[in-house]
Amino acid sequence: MLKAENVNAGYGDVQILWDMNMEVEEHSITALIGSNGVGKTTFIRTVAGALQPFNGKISFMGEDITHLPQTRRTRMGIMMVPEGRQLYSGLTVEDNLMMGAYIRKDREKIRRDLDWIYTVMPRLKERRKQIAGTLSGGEAQMCAISRGLMASPKLLMLDELSLGLAPVLVDDLTKILKKIHTDWDITIILVDQDVQTALEIADRGYVMVEGHVEMSDSSEKLLKNEEIRRAYMGM
Ligand SMILES: Nc1ncnc2c1ncn2[C@@H]1O[C@H](COP(=O)(O)OP(=O)(O)OP(=O)(O)O)[C@@H](O)[C@H]1O
Ligand SMILES: [Mg+2]
Repeated sequence: MLKAENVNAGYGDVQILWDMNMEVEEHSITALIGSNGVGKTTFIRTVAGALQPFNGKISFMGEDITHLPQTRRTRMGIMMVPEGRQLYSGLTVEDNLMMGAYIRKDREKIRRDLDWIYTVMPRLKERRKQIAGTLSGGEAQMCAISRGLMASPKLLMLDELSLGLAPVLVDDLTKILKKIHTDWDITIILVDQDVQTALEIADRGYVMVEGHVEMSDSSEKLLKNEEIRRAYMGM
């Protein structure tokens, strides 16, 4: 579904991604792993179109999207839930969710998607009139994911889902993520400091070092890999 080939990207003169390669299969969950600052966020921003690469190629569903603007990619079904949530803090939960659906015209389906979200995340329903800026960390994270879902994406990229959340909330989010994957026709890329949890959810993992992929394998194998366990799971 997604293929990144020798992508080089960065900010101004500073190059961050060095021949970044990744292939993601439709309906899969892929974990993108790596220490702070290796370029995980930079990579998914490049896929979403928030950042233009210096060179290399990105294709999505067989189409070359390397030079398409972010809005076009959003319409094609590529959605990124950014690090730090970035909700419209002055708007209500429901307004935030509806902002996610701004590219859509299928009102009936929008309504049903909203109902799905409120059924799976009743806390968002209870708080639908609450100003997003006053949500707790876990609620804000649910709101951010749901806003991404409201665009009805084919590819959902989640950046640092569990950051700053208590373990019990991480468990809740994990369950929600699995349900999203089952109920929606969706492919997921997951960036998370909680490598163990990310790999447990994912089918496949990519390990980034200094702006490129150092290793990729099935999650099962990566979870058993001594080197990975030592470097990223503190074991
Ligand atoms: N807007 C920017 N301008 C300049 N440099 C940036 C910008 N955003 C990120 N960088 C730099 O790019 C490098 C990679 O950052 P990036 O956010 O992609 O890393 P990351 O793997 O997501 O790290 P983390 O796990 O801490 O989120 C870092 O050195 C960072 O300082
Ligand atoms: Mg990051």
